[in-house]
Amino acid sequence: MGWSSWLLFLYLSWSFFFSRTHESQIYQLQLLLQLRKHLEYPSQLGILESYNGDLCNLSSSPNLGVVCLEDTVTELKIMGDKLVKVSNDFNGFAIPNQTLSESFSIDSFVTTLTRLTSLKVLRLVSLGIWGPLPDKIHRLYSLEVLDLSSNFLFGSIPPQLSRLVKLNSLTLNGNYFNGSVPEWLDSLSNLTILSLKSNRFNGQFPSSICRIITLTDIALSHNHLTGKLPDLSTLSSLHMLDLRENKLDSDLPGMPKELITVLLSNNSFSGNIPGQYGQLNQLQHLDLSLNNLSGTLPSSIFSLPNISYLNLAENMLSGSLPNHLLCGSKLGFVDLSSNKLIGVLPSCLGTMLDKRVVKFGGNCLSVDTQNQHQESYCNVANEEGKQSRCRAVGILVAAIAGAVLVISLLAMVAVFLRRRYRSGRTFEQNIISKVEQDNILTGVSSEVLANARFISEVAKLGTQGAPVCRVFTLEELKEATNNFDSSSFMGEGSIGKIYKGRLENGTYVAIRSLSLLKKHSIQNLKVRLDMLSKLHHPHLVGLLGHCVDSGIQNDSSSTKVFLVHEYVPNGNYRTHLSGQYCLLQGSELKITSF
Ligand SMILES: *[C@@H]1O[C@H](CO)[C@@H](O)[C@H](O)[C@H]1NC(C)=O
Ligand SMILES: *[C@@H]1O[C@H](CO)[C@@H](O)[C@H](O)[C@H]1NC(C)=O
Ligand SMILES: *[C@@H]1O[C@H](CO)[C@@H](O)[C@H](O)[C@H]1NC(C)=O
Ligand SMILES: *[C@@H]1O[C@H](CO)[C@@H](O)[C@H](O)[C@H]1NC(C)=O
Ligand SMILES: *[C@@H]1O[C@H](CO)[C@@H](O)[C@H](O)[C@H]1NC(C)=O
Ligand SMILES: *[C@@H]1O[C@H](CO)[C@@H](O)[C@H](O)[C@H]1NC(C)=O
Ligand SMILES: *[C@@H]1O[C@H](CO)[C@@H](O)[C@H](O)[C@H]1NC(C)=O
Repeated sequence: MGWSSWLLFLYLSWSFFFSRTHESQIYQLQLLLQLRKHLEYPSQLGILESYNGDLCNLSSSPNLGVVCLEDTVTELKIMGDKLVKVSNDFNGFAIPNQTLSESFSIDSFVTTLTRLTSLKVLRLVSLGIWGPLPDKIHRLYSLEVLDLSSNFLFGSIPPQLSRLVKLNSLTLNGNYFNGSVPEWLDSLSNLTILSLKSNRFNGQFPSSICRIITLTDIALSHNHLTGKLPDLSTLSSLHMLDLRENKLDSDLPGMPKELITVLLSNNSFSGNIPGQYGQLNQLQHLDLSLNNLSGTLPSSIFSLPNISYLNLAENMLSGSLPNHLLCGSKLGFVDLSSNKLIGVLPSCLGTMLDKRVVKFGGNCLSVDTQNQHQESYCNVANEEGKQSRCRAVGILVAAIAGAVLVISLLAMVAVFLRRRYRSGRTFEQNIISKVEQDNILTGVSSEVLANARFISEVAKLGTQGAPVCRVFTLEELKEATNNFDSSSFMGEGSIGKIYKGRLENGTYVAIRSLSLLKKHSIQNLKVRLDMLSKLHHPHLVGLLGHCVDSGIQNDSSSTKVFLVHEYVPNGNYRTHLSGQYCLLQGSELKITSF
């Protein structure tokens, strides 16, 4: 080959390469335009309409993401808005509320999709996609992440999906899939996240899952799974197990040592809590409530080094706890209520400690002034008869206890507020007067509201200890709300936006964001927030903590305060959230007549 033909060859291959690139860009853009048509022109894809640039250069937004590797699309993310943002469902994600029209064909849609052959990440969320998921999805053989949450997919998971052996994360939350959870899931030997929450899966928990040793997260909550939960101790990487609200009815199985979050509430698990759970040293969040667990409690679960949340309410747990029970230093919430426990309440669970919330009503503990049954109720052989009489006595006792508690609370608040009054009107008081305006808008005077709440809810105060008020970092809250993503936005009141979030330990929270308008003392604010959190109440939303973000310039105009509340799954958030302040207002009103 002479020089000139060599150069010609170079030129030709360069232009061939260039036009191939260019062609593939045009082709992929055409495919996206087709997908847009299939999806009935969702606003998230509006940008494509007049787009004539390089597809791989499309700027990403929270609702649309296109990522390329060497001019080939490898990631496609479209987050639609066909969803109910404020749902009462305790799921941590939105529920779809609107399907694409009847002429939508999932078969042609997936056919088009599979022409993007190099896709590694595919997220199509809340787009109203309906129909059975076609088998041919397996043609996307490079897929590592597949997320089709919050759509209307039904039928079973197609068996050919087992060929997507590179899958790392499979998320099909909030659809209508039914049939059993496939036995072949262990073909996906690289799977780390399996999330099939809120579908209609029935049948058993497949034992093959125990062979996918790469799994870190298993979430199958809110389905209709029945039968036995197999021993999971082989899953040595598992951090999160969420099987809430199914119908599993075996004994509790062995669990792997690395678990951080275990949520098994609202099933029919029976038998004892295995002693092995007292050795799960990474465990932070254990929820076994609303089951049929019996026997005595292994005391070692209270002293686990990382445990912070322990919910054992509404079971048949019996026996007594040792008085010298040790509690882990991070333990902030314990719920033992509605069991058959007898004996004394261990001192580390005493209500006088303001470090942890402890609930223990509805047992037969020998603590005075608490809502407890008589001992015969907890004598498992002799249950029924005395129940109603016990209740009546219990309520009377609780009412008296409540009254005593309220009076002492009022005294505390009075002392506190007197001090506060001396230092003048502060930002916090401005918040409160704004809430007052909120209530005036509802047409009822805040005094009436506050007093009504006091009278009707007093009886329950007795079972309540004081909670922890912790300082959250902005990063934690960003993590919990997916960077305050619009999908976590719940609403806006006159004093700030409210977001729903999920803390790392699995707790769902409502986060209220306030901007500070005036110069004020952050120190005063913090004291006040701690006070608020101590006025905890079962029917008011508890304040778990706060975060003060001073902004970049450190000037007060960019300061934001985030209040982190317990998330209340049912009801009107505004009522709930202003309720807390009602309680405080009530106290304030009382003070004026002191
Ligand atoms: C990609 O976009 C940037 C600006 O956003 C522009 O400077 C660049 O030329 C674009 N590249 C191509 C290949 O279109
Ligand atoms: C679905 O929910 C969204 C957001 O809450 C709302 O705007 C829309 O009207 C709802 N659609 C239907 C069909 O209910
Ligand atoms: C599994 O994942 C690892 C790293 O995450 C990767 O190196 C390996 O190639 C993957 N295996 C398959 C079959 O995709
Ligand atoms: C799944 O649901 C479809 C209708 O939505 C029904 O026809 C089918 O029988 C169900 N399959 C199973 C296994 O329950
Ligand atoms: C328990 O699950 C049932 C459905 O299985 C549901 O109706 C009920 O609300 C759940 N209870 C709680 C307290 O979540
Ligand atoms: C709970 O367990 C007891 C035995 O410990 C059993 O007699 C009872 O039927 C179970 N209840 C339910 C609702 O499963
Ligand atoms: C659990 O506690 C130990 C010791 O206190 C600590 O080293 C470890 O990092 C903790 N684990 C988690 C998941 O926080």
